[in-house]
Amino acid sequence: MWGGRFASGPAAIMEEINASIGFDQRLASQDIRGSQAHAAMLRDVGILTKADAKSIIKGLDAIGEEIEAGTFTFSRALEDVHMNIEARLAELIGPEAGRLHTARSRNDQVATDFRLYIRDTIDQIDVGLAALQKALAAKAEEHAATVMPGYTHLQTAQPVTFGHHCLAYVEMIARDRGRFADARKRLNECPLGCAALAGTSFPIDRKATASELGFDRPTANSLDAVADRDFALETLAAASIAAMHASRLAEEIVIWASAEFNFVTLSDAFTTGSSIMPQKRNPDAAELSRAKIGRIAAAFQSLLMVMKGLPLAYSKDMQEDKEVTFDALDNLALVIAAMTGMISDLAPNPEKMRESAARGYSTATDLADWLVRAGGVPFREAHHITGSVVAAAEARGVRLDELPLEAMTAIDKRITDDVFDVLSVDASVNSRTSYGGTAPQNVRKMARAWRKRLEK
Ligand code: ARG
Repeated sequence: MWGGRFASGPAAIMEEINASIGFDQRLASQDIRGSQAHAAMLRDVGILTKADAKSIIKGLDAIGEEIEAGTFTFSRALEDVHMNIEARLAELIGPEAGRLHTARSRNDQVATDFRLYIRDTIDQIDVGLAALQKALAAKAEEHAATVMPGYTHLQTAQPVTFGHHCLAYVEMIARDRGRFADARKRLNECPLGCAALAGTSFPIDRKATASELGFDRPTANSLDAVADRDFALETLAAASIAAMHASRLAEEIVIWASAEFNFVTLSDAFTTGSSIMPQKRNPDAAELSRAKIGRIAAAFQSLLMVMKGLPLAYSKDMQEDKEVTFDALDNLALVIAAMTGMISDLAPNPEKMRESAARGYSTATDLADWLVRAGGVPFREAHHITGSVVAAAEARGVRLDELPLEAMTAIDKRITDDVFDVLSVDASVNSRTSYGGTAPQNVRKMARAWRKRLEK
């Protein structure tokens, strides 16, 4: 393809370090789409004859079918997906195939293919994330009033509902989807026709190829367009944050499923047994989902380092963009699917959650709030009194609502029998009706709103 001025072929090791066909064959369908749009545009502006354009477009269709059917032989000597397809086109339709590469270069070609690939993948990831949100919103609606301990520092803090906890992840995932959508919006410009770096002297119609490929517009600067991989970086950054959220949920599932917590039971479908310990049900899918952030965030870092300090415009360094991106996005899709399955199947254990929620003096804040409300005590003082009440309960080894009234009035006379109304976990969650709070009525309303939104 480029051997005109070369007297000998590449060294074997050169071929090995240079070839990308082993991984960029995944861009084949995008490459064909891009080439067909380019050929049609060349025809429409009169650069290609109707007959040549027709046989090129038909030949590319045939290649697409060969690749689909697995009968296409990719050759490493032909370096990358672009040259493999072009060489096969020449075999199929003859030397007229060489006219396709008029007014373009592999530099704008690969930039176009990769944008198309990432755009397609973002769309698939968005569908996956929406499904995960749906699974979480369904659990939230079902468990709007299921009380569990809420934690800070992984120390029992205040009772919350399991539904509220599920909806916290629905919100995170909504932001994840927003980040992908935002990246998609910015990447949706077409580099095709920027050629090697400077544009072309041929009278091409870049708006036509851009619109044919579903881009909003052509990129505005040819140097930038062949040198830019921001779109992959932004997508990997969004993927890293989404994977981070998934890893937090995965970690919670691992904790909840432990015998010590026993808050949830995972299904057989998403757990494994042990070859030595027959009693085990290991949360492997959750553990792996927790771990995938490693390679996904590393992909972002890897490409960021590849791009750092590269002079304009294209450099072969940029060929290193693909493997890490494919790997990261494949694995994110896997994590999302595994989390969706796990959440749908997960069976909460409300009795155990409620029992834990009642431990750890989780309604101490309710007592302090009650002193403020009923006794007109300043909050700081109420906090102090409540601390003494907790200490008294701790000394007797009882929960707050089990401590006799006399023990409380001995600490502060303003405490009356009415205080018991606020010391149960149900009273506690029921009272948290502020917007965004954990009260079951709030959670039910939010979960329904999410379900409706996600059905659209
Ligand atoms: N395989 C190359 C890549 O992925 C395609 C562009 C190569 N361009 C070039 N002038 N060698 O980046």
